[in-house]
Amino acid sequence: MQIVMIGAGYVGLTTGACLAQMGHSVVCVDIDAKRVADLRKAIVPIFEPGLDELIESGLANGRLDFTADVRAATAEADMVFLAVGTPSAPNGEINLSYIEAAARQVAPALKPGATVVIKSTVVAGTAQKVREIIAEEREALDFSVASNPEFLREGSAIGDFMEPDRIVVGTDDQRTARRMKEVYAPLIAKGAPFISTSTVNAELIKYAANAFLALKIGFINDVADLCEKVEGDVSAVSRGIGLDRRIGGAFLEAGPGFGGSCFPKDTRAFAAIGRKNGAPQTLIETLIERNEMRKRRLAKKIVEQLRHTAGRGGRVAVLGVAFKANTDDAREAAALTIVPLLREAGLTVSVHDPRAKDPSLRGVAWSDCPYRACKGADAVVVLTEWEEYRKLDLARLIKEMKGNLLFDYRNLFDREKVLASGFRHVAIGRAPAEAQRKPVKRIAHPRWSDSAAVAMP
Ligand code: UDX
Ligand code: UDX
Repeated sequence: MQIVMIGAGYVGLTTGACLAQMGHSVVCVDIDAKRVADLRKAIVPIFEPGLDELIESGLANGRLDFTADVRAATAEADMVFLAVGTPSAPNGEINLSYIEAAARQVAPALKPGATVVIKSTVVAGTAQKVREIIAEEREALDFSVASNPEFLREGSAIGDFMEPDRIVVGTDDQRTARRMKEVYAPLIAKGAPFISTSTVNAELIKYAANAFLALKIGFINDVADLCEKVEGDVSAVSRGIGLDRRIGGAFLEAGPGFGGSCFPKDTRAFAAIGRKNGAPQTLIETLIERNEMRKRRLAKKIVEQLRHTAGRGGRVAVLGVAFKANTDDAREAAALTIVPLLREAGLTVSVHDPRAKDPSLRGVAWSDCPYRACKGADAVVVLTEWEEYRKLDLARLIKEMKGNLLFDYRNLFDREKVLASGFRHVAIGRAPAEAQRKPVKRIAHPRWSDSAAVAMP
C-alpha cells in the first residue's frame, strides 16, 4: 500500500520505518526541511534502538523516502497517517493546532478513496473534526478517517510495533476497517489482536491506557514512601503484588516520578477531558499533582542531606537526564525538575547522560564520563536506569568523590555492595543505610610506656 506519514518524529519515524519494513511503500513528510534532508542521507535525528538500520534498509530497498512536499506525497497516497505533535496547552488540554493544520495541508491533494489515519494521541472527537476540515475543503471527495493510536515505548518502540499487544483501529465504516486490517496484515497473521471500534473508543483507549499505566507508577511510588517509614522494601512489595496476574509486575518500579513526552501530557489531557465533560478523573488529577510533588520532594531531600553534611555550596553529580534509559529524550524528565532546584539551593551541579542532552539545564557542568562528573562531589544522584550506571565501579566512584552520599533514585544498586564501598545509601522505598564504620582492628600492643618490653626491630 502507498502510505504517507505526516510528522517524522519519535512516533512518525518509527511507525513509517516499520510499515516500510512490513512491505508498504512509505513517504515520511516533515515541515523541518533540515530533518528531511538529514533523513534522506540516513542521518536519524533521534536515538531509538534499531531505527537507524530500519531507515537505512528502507532507503536502500526504495520502500522508504522523505520529503517536505506534502502535496506531492499525498497525491499518490492510499493512506495518510498524521503523527504530528499534540503538545499540552497551559490548561492541560492538548493543542490540536498541528493536527488541524496537517489535515488542511493534505486535504487539497487527497485522492478519491484515500483514508486519513490519526496516529497522534488526540482527544475523543478529533477524528470527526478532521473529517469536517477535509470535507469543507473537498466537498465531493470520497474519503474516510480512522483513529489508530500507538502504544510505543521510547527505547523499545520497534519491538512494541512489530509485536503489539493489540492493534486498535477506530473507524465508522467497514470498508475502512478492512483497509486498516490490510495495513497490519503481517502482524495480524503473527497473532496480534485487532480491535475495530468507533473512533471515539479508539481515542479513549489510548488515553485510558496511558493514564492507567501512569497510575500504577504513582501507586508504587506512594507505597515506596510508606516503605521508607516502616522499614519496608518497595522492591519486595512490588514483586509480591506483581505476581498476582490481575495486577502484573510491569510498571511497578518505584522511581523519581514519571516523565517523557506522553505520560505527563496524556494524564493532563485525560484530566482535562474529564473536567470538560463533567466526568472529573479525580484519581488522575491527584496522580498528576503527586508526581510533580515527588520530584520536588526528592530534590528537597538531597538539599537537606547536603546542607547537613557539606553546608551551603555542596557539590552534586547528577547521573541521568533522559526520562528513562535507552532514549535520548529528556522531555519532562525528573532531572529537569530536580537539577534547577539543586542549583536554586546554591549547590554546584555536574551532569552526565550517555545520550540525552537538554539545553534547558543552565549553570551545570556537563561531563562525558560519570566518574569525572563525580570528581570532588559530596553526593551522586542517579535519576535514569542506564545499564552503564548499573555497572559503575562503586569503589572507584567513591574515590573520585569528596563525600559518600549515593541517592539511588532508580534502585539500581545492591545495598551490600554500596555499603561495602563506603557509601551512605539513600534508595527509593527503603530506609537510608550508612556504611558500617569498619571496627578498627585493635592488635594487642605492649604499652609503649613499657619500652623495655618492646623489642624494637
Ligand atoms: C507526537 C505527539 O507529540 C504525540 O502526542 C503523538 O502520540 C505522536 O506524535 P512525537 O513523535 O514524540 O509524538 O512528536 P515529535 O517528536 O515532536 O515529532 C513531531 C514531528 O512532526 C516533528 O518532527 C515536527 O517537525 C513534525 N511536524 C509538526 C510536522 O511535520 N508538521 C506539523 O504541522 C507539526
Ligand atoms: C509510554 C507508554 O508506555 C506507551 O505505551 C505510550 O505509547 C507512550 O507513553 P514512554 O513514555 O515511551 O511510553 O515510556 P514508559 O516506558 O512508559 O515510561 C514512562 C515514564 O514512567 C518514564 O519516566 C519511566 O522512567 C517511568 N516508569 C516506567 C517508572 O517510573 N516506573 C515503571 O515501572 C515504568
